[in-house]
Amino acid sequence: MENIPKNSVDLIFADPPFNLNKKYESKINDQLSKAEYLKWTETWVLNCIELLKEGGSFFVWNLPVWNTHISSILNKYLNFRQWIAVDIKYQLPIPNKLYPAHYSLLYYTKGKKPNTFNNQRLPMEICRHCGGDIKDYGGYKNKLNKNGLNLSDVWHDLSPVRHGKYKSRESNELPIKLLERVISMASNEGDLIFDPFGGSGTTFIVSEILKRRWIGCEIGPVDSIIKRFDDVDLHKKQISEIQKKKNVLFTEEMRNIRSKNEHWLPETINGK
Ligand SMILES: C[S@@+](CC[C@H](N)C(=O)[O-])C[C@H]1O[C@@H](n2cnc3c(N)ncnc32)[C@H](O)[C@@H]1O
Repeated sequence: MENIPKNSVDLIFADPPFNLNKKYESKINDQLSKAEYLKWTETWVLNCIELLKEGGSFFVWNLPVWNTHISSILNKYLNFRQWIAVDIKYQLPIPNKLYPAHYSLLYYTKGKKPNTFNNQRLPMEICRHCGGDIKDYGGYKNKLNKNGLNLSDVWHDLSPVRHGKYKSRESNELPIKLLERVISMASNEGDLIFDPFGGSGTTFIVSEILKRRWIGCEIGPVDSIIKRFDDVDLHKKQISEIQKKKNVLFTEEMRNIRSKNEHWLPETINGK
């Protein structure tokens, strides 16, 4: 990180180890004392802040318990925009506590306004079986934006990468859909993206496909990152599928099932 020019990066996405005693290929110690973990965290967070351009955005993915501390560092130097709750169940219920059901994604910018904020819109939620409405939009149906609903700061539509042809390594791989969303929202083509904790390279492959420039660090083996670039066509296909399902109120597939079962579509309610 010392070799990267200061104030040069448009977007930073960081997904550090969570200090949960996980086994990493890099053999890092993931069971530091709380004080040691926070000291280490402060060092990399401050280094990241230096690299960020004025108007650049900084996202940190972590457990809520650590992101409360990271927020208190970031609040001194950057502007808080959002605490995004990403609804992914990651452990079993704990006795005498609420069931932990979200990861925290902190979103900050350097300076008052982000240089880039591209609104992301989602399709309406419908019944998987009949295509009918799940929420009652009453008289507002004809006011819904045809490009989809506003993305909120609670994300329900992401699932952990578990099986299948897209999984690149044993653990810690974030969903492509998450990075597609963050990168599309907070950067433009040609922008420079930095990820200090490369892992399997999710940030790098999405940046590459979305035509951003990217730079990153990874202390362990980088074979899974290289493998991802060997499989670039597979990831391109995956991203194109993700993109077909955003910025529309109904996808083609949704329109078909709704027409078949005689549920309303924007063109059938006009004027009603
Ligand atoms: C939670 S994983 C990141 C996963 C990544 N977001 C992905 O989707 O594949 C954290 C990564 O940080 C790496 N790491 C830990 N300490 C590091 C350090 N000091 N410098 C660079 N990488 C480090 C680990 O080896 C691990 O691969």
